Amino acid sequence: MVLLISIVSFGFVGAAAAASRFAPYQTPKLACGSVNLLFTGLPAYHPLVTQQGFDPALIDAAVRADSASLLKAGYNVRVVLMGPEQNISVLANRIPGTNWNGVGVGNGVRSAGLPELIVRFEDILQLYHERVPRAPVLFNYISNSTLFLWAAQRHFPLANNCTNSPGKDLGFEVYCDICAQ
Ligand SMILES: *[C@@H]1O[C@H](CO)[C@@H](O)[C@H](O)[C@H]1NC(C)=O
Ligand SMILES: *[C@@H]1O[C@H](CO)[C@@H](O)[C@H](O)[C@H]1NC(C)=O
Ligand SMILES: *[C@@H]1O[C@H](CO)[C@@H](O)[C@H](O)[C@H]1NC(C)=O
Repeated sequence: MVLLISIVSFGFVGAAAAASRFAPYQTPKLACGSVNLLFTGLPAYHPLVTQQGFDPALIDAAVRADSASLLKAGYNVRVVLMGPEQNISVLANRIPGTNWNGVGVGNGVRSAGLPELIVRFEDILQLYHERVPRAPVLFNYISNSTLFLWAAQRHFPLANNCTNSPGKDLGFEVYCDICAQ
């Protein structure tokens, strides 16, 4: 319990400090539905998620909630979830046809400390670098939280309250043959 409280307060202090330290990257502010974001990460029920000690149901709920809050906030979003056993071409094939303003990689890929995921992380960055060189790469800072919204609002602040004009759902896609469900 003490541990949980310290993690929660650390997250809160971190978020508050981040908000003041990092000014938005772009001005003027952008219109609702004008920013296309592509995120990749591990599927919640992938064995490498369980292996990292995460509860798949919690990760699943967090990723879906983050995607929903991004849409609600006015961002157009595609989520492509796949493990390192999938050919990187699966992600590459989901890039054409949309002008991506920002691209992201989930924390489960970045901070697992597992060789196959670090290799995959490098491959994802290389792919983004080659195919969408002008799009900033967005990171969340903990796996089980709704923090790509934090990254999106930092890079692409929107001009208006977009509650009545949400973003477009460009797909929530899971590519996995070895997932528990
Ligand atoms: C991945 O896909 C590419 C293009 O479809 C193919 O050339 C390559 O051999 C594949 N790599 C693996 C490891 O299957
Ligand atoms: C998120 O994961 C951390 C471990 O990385 C855990 O301590 C924390 O309780 C989790 N948060 C929630 C809301 O489940
Ligand atoms: C945005 O608009 C909705 C609906 O009009 C309102 O309920 C909500 O409080 C507003 N949010 C902000 C941050 O102004």
